[in-house]
Amino acid sequence: MFDLVDDLALARALAAEADLVSLRRFRALDLEVTTKPDRTPVTDADREVETTIRAGITAARPHDAILGEEFGITGESHDEGRPHRQWIIDPIDGTANFLRGVPIWGTLIALAIDGVPVVGVVSSPALGQTWWAATGHGAYTQRTGQHEQKMSVSGVRTLSDAVVSYNSLPGWFDAGRGEAAITLARSAWRARAIGDMWAYMLVAEGLIDAVAECDLQPYDMAALQPIIEEAGGRFSDIAGRPGPWHGTALATNGLLHDEILTLLT
Ligand code: IPD
Ligand code: CA
Ligand code: CA
Repeated sequence: MFDLVDDLALARALAAEADLVSLRRFRALDLEVTTKPDRTPVTDADREVETTIRAGITAARPHDAILGEEFGITGESHDEGRPHRQWIIDPIDGTANFLRGVPIWGTLIALAIDGVPVVGVVSSPALGQTWWAATGHGAYTQRTGQHEQKMSVSGVRTLSDAVVSYNSLPGWFDAGRGEAAITLARSAWRARAIGDMWAYMLVAEGLIDAVAECDLQPYDMAALQPIIEEAGGRFSDIAGRPGPWHGTALATNGLLHDEILTLLT
């Protein structure tokens, strides 16, 4: 039986392997960009990173299920519910940035047990930083060449003093919630569209106070949740339901969560 420390070590090792693949392709002149059936772009790097991580999981944890953005679901479901142990992978979160050469992108690896993410690793080699957590073991970050540091969220108590990232404004309008996003932005001290995984990691580090986003998939969120929670924050959808399964995300320092939920619902 593996414990979460073993699983976290595996996830971090897989993320380090993934970084070698993604960095080699970042800003490559021959990067192949194609369009998926959902009309979003994908690169050869997205596929190669997911293939690398899947191979590592299959070798180390052959009985575990996998959900990945590019290659879907493998492994069995447990009874009518979710698989008992499921790795959830977004090989490159921020593909649009990656293909333009903007360094805000990262590889997301999570382990969910009975549908609850308990291990999360986010690695952003172009930013030179990795973030990780396992339930009950704290949240940490490390910049290239520096020591790791324990993270904790900010102590900002009111939205009028807070820095908030709303990520994609068109995403809010497409979800029919544009006015709610504008109200959130107007109510904050500062509002910026920081985007992709980075905004969530800045919340975990206590450098900003909240991020909210519509139109997400479980693999966009699963790795973020344990990192936010172990840093002392709160992660839910924008209606307050916990977990990465409901299509939207609200991650805060915890202190601001209810105030923002009231604005958004
Ligand atoms: C995207 C990022 C982004 C979100 C988009 C996602 P991808 O993921 O998570 O923050 O706004 O909805 O599609 O496609 O770059 O992995
Ligand atoms: Ca994503
Ligand atoms: Ca992706």
